[in-house]
Amino acid sequence: MNTTSSASQQVIALYTDLALHPHKDFGWDKGIENARSHGYKEEWIKQLPIELWDYCAAVGNPFTLGEFPAGSTVLDLGCGAGVDVCVAALLVGESGKVIGVDITPLMVQTARRHANDAGLNNVEVVEAGLEALPFDDESVDIIISNGAINLTPSKEKVFSEAFRVLRAGGKLYFADMIKRSDVKTSVCSSQDSWADCVAGTLEEACLLAQIIGARFSEAQCVGHTHYTTSASTIGATFRAVKKR
Ligand SMILES: C[S@@+](CC[C@H](N)C(=O)[O-])C[C@H]1O[C@@H](n2cnc3c(N)ncnc32)[C@H](O)[C@@H]1O
Repeated sequence: MNTTSSASQQVIALYTDLALHPHKDFGWDKGIENARSHGYKEEWIKQLPIELWDYCAAVGNPFTLGEFPAGSTVLDLGCGAGVDVCVAALLVGESGKVIGVDITPLMVQTARRHANDAGLNNVEVVEAGLEALPFDDESVDIIISNGAINLTPSKEKVFSEAFRVLRAGGKLYFADMIKRSDVKTSVCSSQDSWADCVAGTLEEACLLAQIIGARFSEAQCVGHTHYTTSASTIGATFRAVKKR
């Protein structure tokens, strides 16, 4: 089995388990206190169903990285149970649209249920891999992601797909796990677990090089978060622009 399909199978198995058992201890922070720790606003917490927040596996807060103007179309890569999809839907309003994409079928169903329970009519959730997005060229204004891109061995494809579907002037705002450059680790093999936000992490400079390699401009790591998934990883936020 190649690394990509082995990684996908591990990801689907772990995130199906999370969709079924949101209160289970997976060894990393999640839930409403995780959302609060990243500065998710109380007004969002109050407006959205309380059950939604149990699933918050955020490693940072993409909503601190730029504006989300009313009427925008937002795409969330690896949306999980739909926390960021629902927050984005509140921000862009009924004149905007939010599309979530995830590879784990039960997460897709869970995100659809949460958007429906929240009474959000401007949300669509699609089952697909981030490496081949089923969307037209230049069809979205803002791409967000939270703790998902590290989970694919094909990050170049993810950034090139993100670039393709963004409109000129569109923004990429995401949080993800990165490898700490000050901690020595062994090279990961295809046998390592890809689902736990450790094996697939890259160092900051390497991730930035991939974003720039996909033709994004103004790529920057905005900062690190308190989130960890192992002694060798840390959460970080990134932003970049598709120049006009
Ligand atoms: C750590 S969870 C984060 C979920 C959500 N963004 C949040 O903040 O709660 C990562 C999600 O990315 C999805 N994912 C991982 N690799 C993917 C891929 N290659 N294509 C699509 N989704 C993927 C998983 O199924 C999972 O739901």
